[in-house]
Amino acid sequence: MIQTEHLDDEPGRWLAERARLVKCPVDDEKFETLLPAARGLLVRTYTQVNDALLARAPSLKVVARAGVGLDNIDLEACKARGIRVVSTPDANTRAVVEFVTALALDALRPRLSLDKPLDAKRWKSLRSELTAPRQLGDLTLGIYGLGRIGCQVARVALALDMKVIYHDLLSPPPMPASLTAAPGFSDRLRQVPRETLLSQADVLTVHVDGRPENRGLLNTDALGRMKANVVFINTSRGFVIDNVALAEFMIAHPEATALLDVHDPEPFDATYPLLDIANVHLSPHIAAATARAQLNMSWVVRDLWAALSGE
Ligand code: MLT
Repeated sequence: MIQTEHLDDEPGRWLAERARLVKCPVDDEKFETLLPAARGLLVRTYTQVNDALLARAPSLKVVARAGVGLDNIDLEACKARGIRVVSTPDANTRAVVEFVTALALDALRPRLSLDKPLDAKRWKSLRSELTAPRQLGDLTLGIYGLGRIGCQVARVALALDMKVIYHDLLSPPPMPASLTAAPGFSDRLRQVPRETLLSQADVLTVHVDGRPENRGLLNTDALGRMKANVVFINTSRGFVIDNVALAEFMIAHPEATALLDVHDPEPFDATYPLLDIANVHLSPHIAAATARAQLNMSWVVRDLWAALSGE
């Protein structure tokens, strides 16, 4: 069994008690030597499990993805070779929802941490400078993609008294009871066409999955429909955005804010079009970075073992 990326120790130990587990990144020279005999491959976000890799892994029975997105796994190629794929679809939902909420608040509620005493005049002027022009409860949240994470983002937004509009690429989208059961929630939740989502959202958060059709979903046309002061959040995948189009939009609309946690490519280099734009804030793919979510993701080893041992 080969583990190519970091996972938590406890699930790693659990698996190592049952199978021979070798930690080896794909760019390590040992990897190619280990691959032909590997029955299981344990990956996270950056290992590309494509047909070329599978062709060099004739013994492979299971690919385990610690995490949610399957865009780094060629599912068709795995299927064609009879290789099972297991993942942890709900492992980091809560972590991502917390992160999206924090980003929205970062954009809308300026904060300052004081490290020295202030005189009364400065105190007063700061209270005025830090007054937010908008608060979440008066705004409309647009959710692009109402899957597991999108639904939970909706629940939090509804609890904060926001109006929530959403558009899902799959029709009809799932509508969990938690979104319609709480008093007042269903009155403030509306499925809308894509154009309405883009044009009416004050805060727009993207939660589509990484299927190839979603590449460039947020292109010049989509961005051109957005409000000039939109708060735009992406924690899904970087490639759903046309980077150049977004850079142009953000420069043309200084009142808009973009908070981007995912990028194309990762890591980006100095040529990244979204670098050095005052109203664009970049973070290093950390929406799922809580100890709890990482532990949940790492427990994919249970399904890996279950699939391998025929349970
Ligand atoms: C996911 O798809 O679950 C995340 O992008 C995983 C991660 O943060 O590595």
